[in-house]
Amino acid sequence: MDKTKIAVLVSGGGTNLQALIDAEAGGILKSGEIVLVIANKPGAYALTRAEKAGIPALTITKKACGGQEAFEDALIDAMASHGVELVVLAGFMSILSERFIRHYVNRILNVHPSLIPSFCGKGFYGLKVHEAALAYGVKVTGATVHFVNEIPDGGRILLQKAVSILPGDTPETLQRRVMEQAEWIILPEAAELVSSQIQMEKEQQQ
Ligand code: GAR
Repeated sequence: MDKTKIAVLVSGGGTNLQALIDAEAGGILKSGEIVLVIANKPGAYALTRAEKAGIPALTITKKACGGQEAFEDALIDAMASHGVELVVLAGFMSILSERFIRHYVNRILNVHPSLIPSFCGKGFYGLKVHEAALAYGVKVTGATVHFVNEIPDGGRILLQKAVSILPGDTPETLQRRVMEQAEWIILPEAAELVSSQIQMEKEQQQ
C-alpha cells in the first residue's frame, strides 16, 4: 500500500521536522513519507535538515511571490506536483487563508507549543507562547497537535501532552522542555495517525 505523501512546512530551525524525519527512519511514522519540505524563510536551518535526509526542499516566500494569494498558489502547485496528501505545519510562522485551507480540509496538521485553548491564536507563536505562560504563572503547559481550520489554532484537537513548569524556568528553558517532552513526541504520533487514516480511506476506495 502506498504511503501517505507528506509535505512539511517550516520557517526556522526545524527541530519538529527533524523529529518527523527521525520518526520515519525509526518506524514510528510508518504509514506516511515526507516527500517535500517547504520553507517560507530563505536560509532556514530546516532546509539543511531536509537536504541531509535527502528530502526535496524548496523556499517559497510571500515577498518573492508578490502577495499572499500568489504565495499560497505557489505552495499548492509545489505540493500538487509532489502528490502531497497531508500537510504538516512544523513551526510554520505564516497564517494561511481560508482559500488555502479549503484545498486541504482535515489534511493540515499544526503543532502549537501550549495546551490549547491557553496561549494560542493570533500573536502567540514560538517563544512568545512560553513568555505568556510564564507571565501568567501557570504551573503546567504543554503542546497540542490540531487540524488547521480558518481560526488560528482553532481546529479540532488531535493530541495534547502536558509539561511541568519548573522554578527558575526562562522562556528558552521552557521551550526546550516542551519540545523534548511533548512536541517531538506527539507530532510524529499525530502524523502517523492521520497518515494511516488516509491510507485506509484510499484502500476502501479501491
Ligand atoms: C515550535 O515550538 C513550534 O511548536 C512553534 O514554533 C517552534 C518551531 O520550532 N510553533 C508555533 O508557535 C506555531 N504557532 P522548530 O522550527 O524547531 O520546529
